[in-house]
Order: sequence, then structure tokens, then C-alpha cells
Amino acid sequence: MRSWQPTLDIEDFRALREQFTDFMLGYKFAIDEITTKINILREDFNNAHEYNPIEHINSRLKAPESVLEKVRRKNYAMNLASIRENVLDIAGVRVICSFISDITKIRDMLVGQEDITLLDERDYIGNRKPNGYRSLHLIVSIPVFRSDRTDRIPVEIQIRTIAMDFWASLEHKIYYKYRGEVPPNLQGELAEAAEAAAALDEKMESLHRLVDHRSKSLPDPVADELDLTALYMGFLGKNS
Ligand code: GTP
Ligand code: MG
Repeated sequence: MRSWQPTLDIEDFRALREQFTDFMLGYKFAIDEITTKINILREDFNNAHEYNPIEHINSRLKAPESVLEKVRRKNYAMNLASIRENVLDIAGVRVICSFISDITKIRDMLVGQEDITLLDERDYIGNRKPNGYRSLHLIVSIPVFRSDRTDRIPVEIQIRTIAMDFWASLEHKIYYKYRGEVPPNLQGELAEAAEAAAALDEKMESLHRLVDHRSKSLPDPVADELDLTALYMGFLGKNS
């Protein structure tokens, strides 16, 4: 056995693994909570405005070995408290929107919820990365109600348009193919593609603005006193 390895018997190892599994489960639940919130916003917004700001939602839970690999790579302490504090992208949710203006809408609707705390925000749309990467990144925390306790769990939310997502997934593939050393000519091509994607987003946004999105005349939430008799009579008429 190499000298830096702690000596653990099989029972201790099993207990350690169970603790880590339980720890990771909290992040899975946090993804479930955030995904439900976003699905509710999507359906509610669609009902109120007859228009859908969300194209689709993806999520991923970082693999346990990737979590520990990041702890090692970044030189964080190898314990749960340190992971909880330092590794904020164990739970990841990606929201793909049609239009740039949808991104802030989704952001504001999420951040405005009282059980969500915004821990960090990086606007790579206002300030795109030198390679051309654009996206809005939020780190939020959300309470997760376990059988014996409540934990606040961080979730990384990336919000981007279809064009931003298209570009990012291609760039990701190229980056990995060249193991991070993308040749300069390809870097140039990617920057050009990023420019084209941004121009497309602008164009789609201005066309989108031309379309009239009338809101349905839903009553105010305070219109509790509205008389529903006519509705009742309507149902009766239908059933008779
Ligand atoms: P990590 O420590 O690796 O999590 O990065 P960070 O803390 O500096 O955060 P950052 O906001 O830069 O990136 C977080 C995530 O955004 C990454 O894991 C990717 O999913 C995505 N991302 C950031 N930059 C790029 C990029 O240049 N290209 C692509 N394709 N994705 C990116
Ligand atoms: Mg990351």
C-alpha cells in the first residue's frame, strides 16, 4: 500500500461510501426541485401569454469520481464540508430559450422566488468569453427537505438561446478533440461562428418583437370575489 493512502477496513470504507451516496442524493433532489420550478414557470407562462419562453431543459448530476477529481485538481480539502462549500456545480441545470429576452425573464422569475438564494451570477452574454462563449450562469441555493433535516443545496443554472447552445456544444466537442489545444485557425473559425450565432440571436429577437404577443385577459389574482355563477350555468347547460 502506498504511504499516503489512509488504512481503512472494509466496514469503514462501506460507511464512507454510504455517506457520500447520501450526500450526492441531496444534489439530485435539488435538480428535481429546480426542474419542477422551471417546468411550472414554463406551463404557467405559456398559459398566461400563449407563448413558450423555454425550448427545453437539461440537467446533469456530476459523477462522484468527477466531484472528487475536481477536489483533488483544485486542492480543496478532501471532506464533505469542503465539497459543500467549494464545488458548486455538482447539480447542473441548463435552460434553452428561443430568444435573448427570454433569458432575463427566466432568470428574474427564478431569482424572485423566496426559497431561492442567488449566490453568484456570471453574465457571459453581456461579456462574452474571448473564445466566443455566451450564456448566463447562475449559482443558486435551494432548500431540500430530507427525511431528517433540511439542507440548502447549490445548483448551477446555465440559461442560453438555441444558437448559444448550438455553438457551445460544437466548441465543447472541438475543445475535447484537441485536448484543450485548439489550433489557431479553428479558434478563428469558432470566433466567426460565435459572431454569426450572436447576429442570428439579434435578428430573431427583432423579428420576435414584431409579433404581437397579447396576454390573455386573466383576472388579477386578487379578483377572488368574481361571481362564478355564469360559469356554473355554462357547465350545467353543457351536461344537460
Ligand atoms: P469550473 O471550475 O470548470 O466549473 O469553471 P468556472 O468555475 O470557471 O465556471 P465557468 O462559469 O467558467 O464555467 C462553468 C461551465 O460553463 C462549464 O462547466 C461549461 O459547462 C460552461 N462553459 C464555460 N465556458 C465555456 C466555454 O468556453 N465553452 C463551452 N462549450 N462551455 C463553457
Ligand atoms: Mg464546472
